Amino acid sequence: MAERIPIASDHAGFEMKEKLKARLTALGYDVQDMGTSSEASTDYPDYAHPLAEEVSTGEVKRGVLLCGTGLGMSYAANRHAHVRAAVAWNADVARLARQHNDANILVLPARCISEAEAETILQVWLDTPFEGGRHERRVEKIELEEPPK
Ligand code: RB5
Repeated sequence: MAERIPIASDHAGFEMKEKLKARLTALGYDVQDMGTSSEASTDYPDYAHPLAEEVSTGEVKRGVLLCGTGLGMSYAANRHAHVRAAVAWNADVARLARQHNDANILVLPARCISEAEAETILQVWLDTPFEGGRHERRVEKIELEEPPK
């Protein structure tokens, strides 16, 4: 069965989201569009929270968010337990976000990268496994309710 991947954006990421939806569909994923549906002005938390909740509860393994800078979407998504939403602006960051940080949400800064760059970043993020090992311990420490002093 095809992996379901939710994708969502605000108005700033709408156009790029549409392009990436087509790309993910062509790659064989079951794409779940969680909005927005036009370039009309919207509030990014309204889209980040529902998608992040799906990842947080384990309904889906991973998802994709887009806004102008990637920052607002990542702030909102990272408030959900077990979510590691990484803003990636090039392929190296996307690769390291997977290898070292096990990023389960890719956040793209739509106003700062081209469509071709977004496609490359998405592909690298999709294809790169988590390295585990010493990174496992570090990622586990993120989940502590009381961070060590
Ligand atoms: C929308 O204008 C913009 O603020 C938003 O897309 C995002 O960049 C916020 O972090």
